[in-house]
Amino acid sequence: MINTIKSVLVFSLLVTVGSFGITGENANAADDPNQFYRLMKPALKRNPPLATDGIHDPESQGVKMLQEPKAALNVLNKGKSGNYVDWVKSLEKAEIKPLYDLKDKNAKSMPLDLKIVREVKGSMPDVVFTHRQHTEWLDCSNCHPDIFIPQKGANQMSMAEIMLGKKCGVCHGKVAFPVSECRLCHSAKTKAKKTSKKK
Ligand code: HEC
Ligand code: HEC
Ligand code: HEC
Repeated sequence: MINTIKSVLVFSLLVTVGSFGITGENANAADDPNQFYRLMKPALKRNPPLATDGIHDPESQGVKMLQEPKAALNVLNKGKSGNYVDWVKSLEKAEIKPLYDLKDKNAKSMPLDLKIVREVKGSMPDVVFTHRQHTEWLDCSNCHPDIFIPQKGANQMSMAEIMLGKKCGVCHGKVAFPVSECRLCHSAKTKAKKTSKKK
């Protein structure tokens, strides 16, 4: 019990620290309460025009040649965070057809239907890791063995590490949906039995 409380405390501390140090935008946090957390931009400011996104050089000719994010993304399935696209659904509905291999146009992914349940101490639902959604786009070698040893339970994982960009955080929060979407990962309907050996 004490352990759980401790890890939840450490976790909320990280959430707080994490949301301050990210972009220069946060300097304006006091003016606009919605800016406090970068994942909670008001709808109008999501996927801004390239010339005002703070990433592209507005003076560059190239900016005018690129497709605007809203034009590209608004036609896909809506998501709740990140770039506000549900990429898993968009792929399932064949709204996008990503190339599996840049060099070989005919290469196909090899989806693997294998679920791994990671037991979570405390009240959060257990984490269900689904190979299928990942292997529809990724290669086994994107995760094995560098990020995860391919053996159930062989890898230590914690929320703190994920927030620091390790384990699931190598991708989630960067190229895949961010950690704010707790329930997408903590999706088990029932908790694993307390009699388990893992403590
Ligand atoms: C997005 C990352 C990722 C990708 C891609 C991935 N895996 Fe995994 N794999 C995991 C994780 C996480 C575990 C669970 C490790 C743990 O519980 O410690 C795992 C576990 C496994 C296990 C152990 C199962 C068991 O019951 O012990 C096997 C086997 C495996 N993966 C094979 C594959 C194969 C084959 C592919 C490619 C078709 C693949 N994985 C792609 C993340 C990935
Ligand atoms: C990208 C997937 C993912 C997301 C999103 C996610 N978690 Fe986790 N969480 C994990 C994994 C993996 C573990 C480690 C489970 C284990 O011990 O094997 C974990 C563990 C935890 C734990 C147990 C203590 C610890 O720190 O390890 C808590 C509490 C927790 N998560 C809360 C949350 C909350 C609250 C959110 C949303 C703000 C969240 N998680 C979002 C994957 C995720
Ligand atoms: C190598 C990159 C990578 C790693 C590592 C990774 N993921 Fe993912 N994950 C993705 C991508 C890409 C998607 C699909 C795009 C999206 O949903 O944002 C995805 C999708 C998912 C989904 C599907 C969500 C849905 O909408 O159905 C879940 C659940 C998930 N990841 C959990 C995890 C957990 C838990 C871990 C760690 C054990 C993990 N992922 C590690 C890249 C990764």
